[in-house]
Amino acid sequence: MQTHEIRRRFLDHFVRAGHTEVPSASLILADPNLLFVNAGMVQFVPFFLGQQTPPYATATSVQKCVRTGDIENVGITTRHNTFFQMAGNFSFGDYFKREAITFAWSLLTNSVEDGGYGFDPEKLWATVYLDDDEAEQIWLSMGVPAERIQRRGMADNYWSMGIPGPCGPCSEIYYDRGPEYGIEGGPEADEDRYIEIWNLVFMQNERGAGTSKDDFEILGPLPKKNIDTGMGVERVAFLLQGVDNVYETDLLRPIIDKAEELTGRSYGVTHEDDVRFRVIADHARTGAMLIADGVNPGNDGRGYVLRRLLRRIVRSARLLGAEKPVMGEFMKVVSDLMSPSYPELATDFRRIETVAVGEETAFLKTLNTGSTLFDNTAAAVKAKGSNTIAGTDAFTLHDTYGFPIDLTLEMAAEAGLSVDEDGFRSLMAEQRKRAKDDAQARKHAHADLTVYKELVDRGATEFTGFDELTSEAHVLALIADGVRVPVATVGQDVEVILDRSPLYAESGGQIADRGSITANGLKLRVNDVQKIAKKVWVHKSTVEQGQVTEGDVVLAQADPAWRRGATQGHSGTHMVHAALRQILGPNAVQAGSMNKPGYLRFDFNWQGQLSEQQKSEIEAVSNDAVGADFPVNTFVTDLTKAKEMGAMALFGENYGDEVRVVEIGGPFSMELCGGTHVQHSSQIGPITVLGESSVGSGIRRVEAFVGLDSYKYLAKERALLAGLASSLKVPSDEVPARVEQLVDRLKVAEKELERTKMAAVLSSAGKFVEEAERIGSVLLVAVAAPEGVPAGDLRTLATDIRGRFGTLPAVVVLLGNADGKVPFVVTVNKGAQELGFKAGDLVGAFGPSIAGRGGGKPEMAQGAGSDPSGIPTGLAAVRARVAELAG
Ligand code: SER
Repeated sequence: MQTHEIRRRFLDHFVRAGHTEVPSASLILADPNLLFVNAGMVQFVPFFLGQQTPPYATATSVQKCVRTGDIENVGITTRHNTFFQMAGNFSFGDYFKREAITFAWSLLTNSVEDGGYGFDPEKLWATVYLDDDEAEQIWLSMGVPAERIQRRGMADNYWSMGIPGPCGPCSEIYYDRGPEYGIEGGPEADEDRYIEIWNLVFMQNERGAGTSKDDFEILGPLPKKNIDTGMGVERVAFLLQGVDNVYETDLLRPIIDKAEELTGRSYGVTHEDDVRFRVIADHARTGAMLIADGVNPGNDGRGYVLRRLLRRIVRSARLLGAEKPVMGEFMKVVSDLMSPSYPELATDFRRIETVAVGEETAFLKTLNTGSTLFDNTAAAVKAKGSNTIAGTDAFTLHDTYGFPIDLTLEMAAEAGLSVDEDGFRSLMAEQRKRAKDDAQARKHAHADLTVYKELVDRGATEFTGFDELTSEAHVLALIADGVRVPVATVGQDVEVILDRSPLYAESGGQIADRGSITANGLKLRVNDVQKIAKKVWVHKSTVEQGQVTEGDVVLAQADPAWRRGATQGHSGTHMVHAALRQILGPNAVQAGSMNKPGYLRFDFNWQGQLSEQQKSEIEAVSNDAVGADFPVNTFVTDLTKAKEMGAMALFGENYGDEVRVVEIGGPFSMELCGGTHVQHSSQIGPITVLGESSVGSGIRRVEAFVGLDSYKYLAKERALLAGLASSLKVPSDEVPARVEQLVDRLKVAEKELERTKMAAVLSSAGKFVEEAERIGSVLLVAVAAPEGVPAGDLRTLATDIRGRFGTLPAVVVLLGNADGKVPFVVTVNKGAQELGFKAGDLVGAFGPSIAGRGGGKPEMAQGAGSDPSGIPTGLAAVRARVAELAG
């Protein structure tokens, strides 16, 4: 049975039983604790917790899921997919255990003609939680014999999301693949022979913090008893299709076929290659699904996971022998396979392909430089007689050259080396601390949202701020320190929830309005406005006068000056975005933005630095658009129409059916946007691009000032130039020429100084020759060179001295002292070599004294030591050795 058919039958089975079919949520939900949606129940969590009232009592869905915790197992076991589809049925306080078990049993065992999957009931096993007699009784009544029901502990049969939230005992259904796949004894004995296909969770409690699957606190019962089930669509497919593992099912095997074609290698020959083929199949699909949902490759969080998946594809393909880029072809196969269930993979194919191929191109470059650097590092480590690559080296490879740590680890293992991972991680942690943090994500990250539930259920705050800056409103609720309060008095910080408000709540990159809430004798200063559940405005305020009481009628006002600046900042952002795409093309996809009065920043996907010329073109195009005085039009339409018109949407945002479009200058700029804007583009004022920088590999950031802040910035620059001109005593426009001239002169002077220094060093050569000691028939110069002479000059000096002896047998040993090191050169001329002296051997005489090593040919050896205090002992040791050899 094909996978698309398995999905369909599941949904039909539950819709027939009265469930509402709910579409899969995006892989990215606005939950800071969750990297990706990893279970069907995630979108329903507020219903289980009683924070929101569900619009239906029972539901069914097939949810896109990504779990990357087991990435190392992909391709090695039979059943680990990073992307999979979880089919589920859910009851929110409606039916419970008996119905859940009955529904699952009938779908699995009903014949194919009757709409079921036709599994042989004799091959199905069930597990229940330790003390769950009720569930066991139900299974027995289904006809499952007691010997095929096992009781298991918390780690296996008590489900939670791994973080505080809903939880409960569960009952799992397993399929026995038969004795050729492992030992008897049920799931308890062997989970490779007995494959888990369905998990029924009796969601009835709330869990607190904890350290592992079987160690967390149970806080108490949920408001109602619920059902959450999850059936692994890929696992059912693999069993029904009679193949050996999930990678060979109908939606993945064609990717392996494509990989065979592109690499010239065959699947099913060696285990090593098979793992690579399966990694490609699994990761290509996960990559495409993540990009479709708006993830872009990046250096942390979701972006890093995607980057790692795409890079593992490239590397696996290379190891299989691919010489050309492969990503575009893989994305095409995935799109063809998956679009019947996920049409966006076809409609959005160009973008998905561009992002994936862009990452491949960048990574191939990185691989080439990185592999060479890695080889050098590995060789140096081995030469030192060590077998560990230092954390700093791994960090440099990662940070400077974009060579990922997992690749360093893999290549090190291949080279028989280990990596100081702790050292690496602590350097990474330091760097992260410096990196920008996502303030928005943190604001409500761990807040208890139950206090807002009633308000969220009541409905959205009416936003009046597109039409007016002052509105009359009712105080619906006051919240202080996370609890509802009836009043708040002078000096208190309080969150105010109004029925309507003209103040803009932070979203879409635009910082919240500042303003006030007033009434007779009452004044609150509004410091910030945030949205809860995307619809309730929370005004974070301080009471400055009087006291505010729930039910008060007040005037809410957005600060007009702030708002004027904010509209300039936001419209300016749209101008810069449009200019970027005009100059750089459609691949400069937005990755984030922030704007506030006078300032904006805009992040976008781009490999490499922008040139000076690109920067000034972007600035020129933005300012031309300002000068054109385009009218700014906003209108509401549906998502499909907006996309048809070419409006740009920010991926990863969840848009409703109705969207607001902001259009400036017709096709020049059209974006989905809920922000506040100027009425004519000239009101933005001048836009000054400050600069451009990297915020993680593959993402660039431009920053700009707008309006009066632009002017202030330029005035400061002008003052700076005036200062320079006066110090250099030339008019402003001659400053560049003057600086260039000074730099040239400085270079000439530095060269001259270099030459003088060298001449001085060489002039000491004569003195050393005069002081040469005769030992037997050889002349020896063994001296400390003048301090500060670097290794290169030392060699010139040694050669010069050697030359002055002509054909007389001579040995020259110079020990330097520069930057705390002891560079050294030993040289032996022909005559002395004939007497048996070898430069390399002499290093052994003084090396230990200066903690140094080095080597070379009979006529010349050089190297460095690290202990200058040993120079005199070293020189004495050389003399002794020469005397010994001279007999
Ligand atoms: N939440 C459970 C799971 O993920 C069942 O849907 O396994």
